[in-house]
Amino acid sequence: MTVTKKIDVKAGKPYSVKIGKGLLDKAGEEAKALGLDGKALIVSDDNVAALYLERVSASLKSAGFEVLSFVIPHGESSKSAENLLAILEFAAENAFSRTDTFFALGGGVVGDLCGFAAAVYMRGTNFVQLPTTLLAAVDSSVGGKTAIDLTAGKNLAGAFYQPKLVLCDTATFDTLPDEEFSNGMAEVIKYGMFCDGGFLDILTESNTDIESMVARCVAIKARVVEADEFDKGERMFLNFGHTIAHAVEALSGYTTPHGSAVAIGMAVITKACVNANECDNHALEVLISLLKKYNLPSECPYGVDEVYNVTLKDKKNAHGMITLVLPTAKGKSILKKCDYNELKEIITLGLK
Ligand code: NAD
Ligand code: GLY
Repeated sequence: MTVTKKIDVKAGKPYSVKIGKGLLDKAGEEAKALGLDGKALIVSDDNVAALYLERVSASLKSAGFEVLSFVIPHGESSKSAENLLAILEFAAENAFSRTDTFFALGGGVVGDLCGFAAAVYMRGTNFVQLPTTLLAAVDSSVGGKTAIDLTAGKNLAGAFYQPKLVLCDTATFDTLPDEEFSNGMAEVIKYGMFCDGGFLDILTESNTDIESMVARCVAIKARVVEADEFDKGERMFLNFGHTIAHAVEALSGYTTPHGSAVAIGMAVITKACVNANECDNHALEVLISLLKKYNLPSECPYGVDEVYNVTLKDKKNAHGMITLVLPTAKGKSILKKCDYNELKEIITLGLK
């Protein structure tokens, strides 16, 4: 077992993120140490449940929890209102109370769905995140954004609801398909690009262990969430590359994974800033070489009008303006409110 790293997130309700190999076997004792007890509902998807449900269940049982599980099919389409209601009904049928605990065992799909269920079940029950993808470890399990998708788009219903604990067992990444590891790397690179040039150097030289890499991302995310838990300002930096990414995901009919779309989005926005002479070319070179290194795409398969039209529907639009994260140099970026003409100009420059 490696040394566990611990990062505290000082949100409205503070909690810790623990990162290390073998932590799934400690889920029970870690939860108990926080004063959690009673019933545990483990929500997972079929892939993850086949690999890890027994272990988590055994750990929780040995800590005295009464354990039930709810397994959904894997994939984005499971982040649905139907599954949300099914989990809530299941918890109610099994007499879960507000002092019991929901455990999200899986990637961002499970985490977002289970977190939203925890947020609304009896107006809020205890919630623990057990991320098993790199993407969930470095991003979705931390910060309290929970959601389901609606027919009109992704993440359109949700809540800010912080977990009581995040336990990231990095040994689970051993079973992740390579493509999923790459998708997580897109979010890792994102942190370096918007605020941490030194991290980009480390990623380029590849002399970091996985726990240190995850911890560095979580530490950045924690700092940003502490400054702006409810996404009114600084938290928007976490959306670097995401405006174009959401358009790419939508245009592909959600067949392009989130991480790959973020990779394309970061490349497009950085190219746009370089073409506008607002960012030095070195930042773009570093980004493109890292995307290549981690088998991520950088070319957008869609045209300016297609991307622009979908971007207009982004839920981050407000009063005819959209806030973009614009890189200015390696590891540096600014927030800029753009009107729709500026947005179109930026997309045009990025797709040149
Ligand atoms: P995912 O949850 O769909 O997991 C990807 C695939 O990997 C799935 O097929 C899953 O079954 C499989 N898997 C998971 N862990 C595994 C393991 N250890 N071994 C083998 N297979 C494993 O996808 P994701 O990339 O983790 O998350 C994407 C979701 O996260 C999207 O819905 C996105 O909107 C959301 N998200 C949320 C936030 C947030 O702040 N809440 C941030 C970023 C992304
Ligand atoms: N993943 C974006 C956020 O947490 O704000």
